[in-house]
Amino acid sequence: MAKDSKRTVLVTGGAGFIGSHTLVELINAGFEVVAVDNFSNSDDTCLKGVEQIVGRKIPFENIDCCDYEAMEKLFQSYEFDSVIHFAAFKAVGESVEMPLKYYRNNITSFLNVLELMQKYNRSNIVFSSSATVYGETDVLPVTEQTPRMPAISSYGNTKQICEDILRDTVASSKIRGIALRYFNPIGAHPSALIGELPRGVPNNLVPFITQTASGVRECLSVFGNDYPTPDGSCIRDYIDVVDLAKAHVSAISRMVEDKNKQNYEIFNVGTGKGTSVLELVSMFEKVNNLKLNYKIAPRRQGDVVAIYADTTLANIELGWKAERSLEDTLASAWKWEQYIRSKK
Ligand code: UFG
Repeated sequence: MAKDSKRTVLVTGGAGFIGSHTLVELINAGFEVVAVDNFSNSDDTCLKGVEQIVGRKIPFENIDCCDYEAMEKLFQSYEFDSVIHFAAFKAVGESVEMPLKYYRNNITSFLNVLELMQKYNRSNIVFSSSATVYGETDVLPVTEQTPRMPAISSYGNTKQICEDILRDTVASSKIRGIALRYFNPIGAHPSALIGELPRGVPNNLVPFITQTASGVRECLSVFGNDYPTPDGSCIRDYIDVVDLAKAHVSAISRMVEDKNKQNYEIFNVGTGKGTSVLELVSMFEKVNNLKLNYKIAPRRQGDVVAIYADTTLANIELGWKAERSLEDTLASAWKWEQYIRSKK
């Protein structure tokens, strides 16, 4: 394999929210990239945005990672030594209604990537895991040692299963892997050229907030104000997407530079700080100088009361820390929403 391939990264799901931001940060850090996506939950808006930000074309293939033959051609055509695997379905509610769709897609694509990495001797993989693997836990903040709870959704179960697949694959091969457990990724690139583009009615809080602010949605429902928290609404750890993207660069660099302590490692990626839904809403109003139409609605099924990360391990081992303030992140989410509306 050519020398440059050591610093070339295949990014699956590269047209998506976290994938596109990670492409930018990889390029900023001097990596070469190859992106694939089948646009099942995206379009080329963010890819074009990435190209505008970095000022060059991104090598890209429209491929479904479940298509083994197409993926094999990709492995034969490009010399990357590392992979970041974002490509997956991620709607919690839909996964409960259509479990097979989630198991087939999220697991098949991951098996294909790992099998091909083995066959073509590729070294390193970062897997997009999620704080969902901790489920409802009494231990706060959660560390990587906090036991995983049985998943409440099929989506969450695919994350647990894929973590286990990676652990076992690493144990029996030369592949090295890092699972990053994301907390709640929000915000957008400061340029507002890339950001989150949910299809249809957003499930997640921040896109629902920004769409309500822009008038696409009439009113935000705050799901529950009778939880055992200071203001009664749920608490989450909201992590800026650019900070999250940088965690991927740190994880890949750790393996490329042979600094990993074990061949399979897990890191929480959050800020370490919990914020309630009502706090987030009022912060959004304040930083963007607007009033949001919202009402208190019944609890949403499956929501955990509170979860936030202990990020000590990522701080020490990855040398990574969330840097952007929640205020700046919420301002960037609003800037992106306005940019997207102006294009439509
Ligand atoms: N919420 C509202 N109104 C909305 C949307 C959300 O009040 O319209 C509340 C939720 O009840 C929750 C909080 O905002 O308390 C955050 O909800 P999100 O849907 O934005 O995020 P979740 O914490 O439910 O889910 C996120 C990821 C999942 C992941 C999970 C793991 O989206 O992929 O974290 O904790 F599985």
